[in-house]
Amino acid sequence: MEYSNTISRREFLKELGILGAGILATTSPWLSAFGEISHTNNERCRIGLIGPGSRGQFLLSFLKKNPKVEIAAFADIYQPSLDEALKAVPTAKAYKDYRKLLDDKSIDAVVIATPLNTHCQIALDAFDAGKNVFCEKTIGYSMEDCLKMYNKHLETNKIFFSGQQRLFDPRYIKAMAMVHDGVFGPVNCVHAYWNRNGDWRRPVPSPELERHINWRLYKEYSKGLMTELACHQLQVGTWALGKLPQKVMGHGAITFWKDGREVYDNINCIYTFDNGEMMTWGSDISNKFYGLEEQILGNLGTIEPERGKYYFENIDPAPAFLQMINEWENKLFGAMPFAGTSWAPETANENHGEYILGKRPETDGTSLNLDAFVEAVVTNKQPERIAEEGYYASLLCLLGHEAITSGTILDFPNEFKIDYPSYNTKAIKES
Ligand SMILES: NC(=O)c1ccc[n+]([C@@H]2O[C@H](COP(=O)([O-])OP(=O)(O)OC[C@H]3O[C@@H](n4cnc5c(N)ncnc54)[C@H](O)[C@@H]3O)[C@@H](O)[C@H]2O)c1
Repeated sequence: MEYSNTISRREFLKELGILGAGILATTSPWLSAFGEISHTNNERCRIGLIGPGSRGQFLLSFLKKNPKVEIAAFADIYQPSLDEALKAVPTAKAYKDYRKLLDDKSIDAVVIATPLNTHCQIALDAFDAGKNVFCEKTIGYSMEDCLKMYNKHLETNKIFFSGQQRLFDPRYIKAMAMVHDGVFGPVNCVHAYWNRNGDWRRPVPSPELERHINWRLYKEYSKGLMTELACHQLQVGTWALGKLPQKVMGHGAITFWKDGREVYDNINCIYTFDNGEMMTWGSDISNKFYGLEEQILGNLGTIEPERGKYYFENIDPAPAFLQMINEWENKLFGAMPFAGTSWAPETANENHGEYILGKRPETDGTSLNLDAFVEAVVTNKQPERIAEEGYYASLLCLLGHEAITSGTILDFPNEFKIDYPSYNTKAIKES
């Protein structure tokens, strides 16, 4: 059977343009999941979806299109979520208690899309029941949870993926191949941010459901913007820098949305690395002008994977303003051995840059992330680094949260380090 999901592997590699398998194998080794694709009809993966809420139903829309997937069951404590899910797949079984779903021996894998505080127990129970696990990010509510989940994956030898879809986004994959190949020079700095203008609330049908529906706003369930948004972008930063940070410090406050929420609406964290490189992550949800981006800065250029563009530092045409400054400089200081003015502002580069890919890809990586998970389950092969990327992305946002709440500069804790070699990349300057 020809593989025919929403986007085929061939199309996917075509989107990545000129990149050869060699560079992809070093910068994005988890893509090996697509190298194993077999074309027989009888390889099926029976999936149980736990928590078919907003994200869960989005994931379901892709899983349904995969010819190798059979959606066997749903589990959710909230009847309206089960009802919605059953509209999409009426043949599936529906349970209020996820443990009943886990009792079904014919289910090969579970997809967990419940609130953060519930992930760990569900994942541990699923591994113990012999299931392969796709767990939405952030994988665990605490660093201890994350380590327990990762160790259980190793102990049971079951497939473990997380919802870090940028790992499968063609723009990011190509961006990282360029970064690791040294196209932008050594990367000294990554600035990542995710801004919004909104209260981040969902409408609640009746008051007693406030915490159930708006769980993201309450400490019992979530660590707010750090676990909901930072997780994606911190992973991109460490992917670009090819290594883990040594220290983190941060600020967080409830500044604008003083509406009873318990999580910050205004955050900034700095992560620092062995050679002094830094990664910042910020979020303010009362102004969306700058939206979201990861700006990866090398001495030769900048790449912004979300925008899908890159920019070299040296461009030919000087903007009129700079020409004017040059003229002033020549007039005033022509005879003096000055290197440059001290008063000219470093205005942003007017360079409009180049596109990373010829066209915007049809996927943000979510469908490919799920396809890769299904292939890994069917072939029973855990792709290299995929569980580790999810683990460390989660750890970094939890560590940032701890730095904010404790008001201290934290070292990366040794007890949470797992086997995770640095990337072999030309973008790392020797420390
Ligand atoms: N990868 C991404 O880009 C992305 C985007 C959005 C959300 N997410 C993640 O997806 C997860 C869910 O987020 P959401 O926005 O869909 O939340 P949601 O509230 O819309 O859905 C969660 C569902 O889980 C159910 N649930 C709660 N506790 C349960 C339990 N103990 N057992 C079974 N079901 C339970 C709820 O009833 C609800 O139907 C979160 O971890 C979130 O971080 C990831």
